[in-house]
Amino acid sequence: MFAVTAARFSADNPLSALEMGDHAEPTPPDGWTTVSVKATALNHHDVWTLRGVGISADRLPMILGCDAAGIDAAGNEVVVHSVVSDPGAALSDETLDPSRSLLSERYDGTFAERVTVPSRNLVPKPAALSFAEAACLPTAYLTAFRMLFDKSGAEPGSTVLVQGAGGGVATALVLLGSAAGYRMWVTSRSEDKRQRAVDQGADQAFPPGARLPERVDVVMETVGEATWSHSLKALRPGGRIVVCGATSGAMPAADLARVFFLQLSVVGSTMGTRGQLGRLVNFCEQTGVRPLIDRVLPLSEARDGFAAMINGELFGKAVFTT
Ligand SMILES: NC(=O)c1ccc[n+]([C@@H]2O[C@H](COP(=O)([O-])OP(=O)(O)OC[C@H]3O[C@@H](n4cnc5c(N)ncnc54)[C@H](OP(=O)(O)O)[C@@H]3O)[C@@H](O)[C@H]2O)c1
Repeated sequence: MFAVTAARFSADNPLSALEMGDHAEPTPPDGWTTVSVKATALNHHDVWTLRGVGISADRLPMILGCDAAGIDAAGNEVVVHSVVSDPGAALSDETLDPSRSLLSERYDGTFAERVTVPSRNLVPKPAALSFAEAACLPTAYLTAFRMLFDKSGAEPGSTVLVQGAGGGVATALVLLGSAAGYRMWVTSRSEDKRQRAVDQGADQAFPPGARLPERVDVVMETVGEATWSHSLKALRPGGRIVVCGATSGAMPAADLARVFFLQLSVVGSTMGTRGQLGRLVNFCEQTGVRPLIDRVLPLSEARDGFAAMINGELFGKAVFTT
């Protein structure tokens, strides 16, 4: 079958580590099943893998991709939950299993014609969502859903600042948050992306580091070092940063004096549970919210999608179809 793999690592030139071509068919172990992938979506996680972050060399070559929507062995339309946990761990939240991994970390990922996954990881895809739309949900949209509705502690009507408006998680936060009645503010380096964020439902958009009209209840961080100082300064006393990523670097100055004097909270968030993925699917069906897709490419042209993400050209998701 055709697949897109990380063949090696390159911290400086991740595209040079990407290979596309024929790959052995997967065989599902006990309790696992095979899904025919109809659509899959690109995440920054796939770029990190090519750079050698979060994976060891003995796992190579690895099929990339965390997200998939497709057809299961019984002919059902499904969305694939990417978090693979120990079924014996008996946790109500599988993201807390210390041995959990995402597809493409320990087990081959979704950038292929077929992928094997634990049978319990399948969520029914409603007919109202296209395969391309459904493929955007398992990573970026699930992460945004948990950050907003589980980790932020903020009620609808609260003001939420999203740093880096153009990203996959960031666009998901704006779409989900504005549909749920939050006042969504964004920053972006690009004037065009700021305008597009307002067009998709953001209440206001600002350049990075801008002085805001008032302090916010929550900041959503995926950018890291480039925006961290602004995120701390943007919060009202008692406010909260929810952080799920650090694209520009993960070691910013902590500014602890501001954290304790203003009694700020910094809360980490990673992916979500299978139950949350099911509720996210329902949320999209009930509200009419649909993932924002920047471009749809055949899987054979995945390299162009990676280049667009690395060059910061995407506004929303890049989707690959088989
Ligand atoms: N923990 C989890 O479960 C989880 C899940 C999903 C993603 N993540 C992480 O979250 C991050 C975002 O993921 P994504 O898939 O949304 O990536 P993405 O689509 O590539 O988004 C990155 C966004 O960050 C902003 N950005 C990048 N470099 C910047 C810089 N130097 N200065 C200011 N802004 C910068 C850009 O915003 P503008 O161009 O608009 O300024 C860009 O749109 C990644 O690090 C990813 O690994 C974690």
